[in-house]
Amino acid sequence: MAIEDLDFVKGFCRMCDDGFAQGWHERNGGNLTYLMSTDEVAAARPGFDEPREWVAMGVEDATLAGRFFLSTGSGKYMRNVMDDPAHNIGIVEINETGSAYRIVWGLLDGAKPTSEFPSHYMNHCVRVAADPTNRVIYHSHTPGVIEMSFIVPLEDRAFSRILWQMMTECVVVFPQGVGVVPWMVPGGSDIAYATSKLMAKFPAAVWAHHGLFVSGPDFDTAFGLAHTIEKAAELYIATRAANGGSDKFLNYITDQDLKDTCRDFHVEINPDFVD
Ligand code: 13P
Ligand code: ZN
Repeated sequence: MAIEDLDFVKGFCRMCDDGFAQGWHERNGGNLTYLMSTDEVAAARPGFDEPREWVAMGVEDATLAGRFFLSTGSGKYMRNVMDDPAHNIGIVEINETGSAYRIVWGLLDGAKPTSEFPSHYMNHCVRVAADPTNRVIYHSHTPGVIEMSFIVPLEDRAFSRILWQMMTECVVVFPQGVGVVPWMVPGGSDIAYATSKLMAKFPAAVWAHHGLFVSGPDFDTAFGLAHTIEKAAELYIATRAANGGSDKFLNYITDQDLKDTCRDFHVEINPDFVD
């Protein structure tokens, strides 16, 4: 079977398309990576090309050494992935120390994995340590989250509480909350280490004035998490605007409401984020 026809590749392409439809991927904005299972590597291997040269990632973590990832290409547009996977996405193999990758399929005509691959790789390493089922890391330029990062404190607790309070079921979807990375230059090892430090604790991290990173065991869960966080952020912006700009609303979801919801939905709320 052609690599393009494998289920995980089709699911990956669909997620790129879904993110574009949401308006989260202007130009080449955003990127997606997927940790392949042993069975998926075996199914794809007959279609692999001659491996290209090893490229240092600028980060190192042996947790996922020797594993294979499907990744969007740097400078590639999410809106083009579905029509031409082999030019816009590719499979990379990680070396035995977890410090370099090499392309084994796709990314044709000299393309490279996303410039955020160091962040993706480090986030995969810490998320899989937190939850062995984790497979997806997704970065999107979500407008509501970006807007929010200009007007609320860039603190994990403050940001998480606002998101939880904007829509009843948010706290069920991400009861640990979200981490917040202050503004940093994208695309390198510094932002990769800063983000992965937070994603060891949280399933999602906000990049101030830039966008969002989320994780999940499959495409539906990771996309759903981004969608939920972004919707809550957009609700906050719209509610605040409708409220004359003030952040003092007439009605609230209280801390007791959040705790009661988690009790009935059998999830554990981050105790540091509620009073
Ligand atoms: P890439 O095109 O290299 O994936 O970069 C897009 C982006 O969003 C950088 O943060
Ligand atoms: Zn970005």
